[in-house]
Amino acid sequence: RTVYVNGDYVPEDQAKISVFDRGFLFADAVYEVTGVLEGKLVDFPAHAARLARSLSELDMPMPMPEADLLAIHRELVTRNGLEEGMIYLQITRGAADRDFVFPKGAEQGVVLFTQSVPGLADAPAARRGIRIVTLPDRRWGRRDIKTVQLLYPSMGKTAAKAQGADDAWMVEDGHVTEGTSNNAYIVKDRTIITRHLGEEILHGITRAAVLRMAEEAQLKVEERPFTVAEAQAADEAFVTSASAFVMPVVEIDGTRIGSGTPGPIATRLREIYLEESR
Ligand code: PDD
Repeated sequence: RTVYVNGDYVPEDQAKISVFDRGFLFADAVYEVTGVLEGKLVDFPAHAARLARSLSELDMPMPMPEADLLAIHRELVTRNGLEEGMIYLQITRGAADRDFVFPKGAEQGVVLFTQSVPGLADAPAARRGIRIVTLPDRRWGRRDIKTVQLLYPSMGKTAAKAQGADDAWMVEDGHVTEGTSNNAYIVKDRTIITRHLGEEILHGITRAAVLRMAEEAQLKVEERPFTVAEAQAADEAFVTSASAFVMPVVEIDGTRIGSGTPGPIATRLREIYLEESR
């Protein structure tokens, strides 16, 4: 695989990052994951806009114009012959002597790599639906900034797998915030319910697209917090992300959701999303 590191396209085993990089030492870095379907980037402008916002919230500039970032994404897709999968982009504040104060004038680090995921669109998990366990949300308070502080979500998904489930939803003050790396939804009486935007969750690019498609399909949408009990009593549940698209949820903490198979609204939204992204 060819990866992009600070201006160069290099084989992955020749890519180098400083041990003083603040992404490594402080998780002082932001990232984006953009889906790739049939060799095309899904919703790139929205990812670039969120990236700009994450950077600005942390007092970091955009390291290059959006058009140049897009060109690097496309070049990596071409060089790696990527048909289906994702591109990961990380921007760090750069390398500097270890100091808790943001350094001035460090040169930002920019890294991109591709990950091929054959069968992403036609995923068996989407036909079967995934099983969720819930856990307390112990992440930091600015989840709207897409930082690389992913240890807690990583622990959570690992714990979910160890319990025989597929992923975890996190709960704060009695309400579901989101999944470890996706936004969470339930459907009751044909109304889609998902947490409102704020600092408690990441503002998903797939979320925005799916809510727009839901409204175009005349489905009602309520953006508000919901409890685990409400989710367990729902007709359907699902998650969305750039790497899962729309993924039906069929079980929460051992309770079957609806019929225990992917619901019609989640299934339909997945179809519409994939159709519009190709
Ligand atoms: N995760 N919530 C969290 C905490 C996430 O990490 C993600 C994305 C989402 C969905 O956002 P979007 O629709 O823009 O992908 C919600 C990516 C895919 C990841 O970390 O791999």
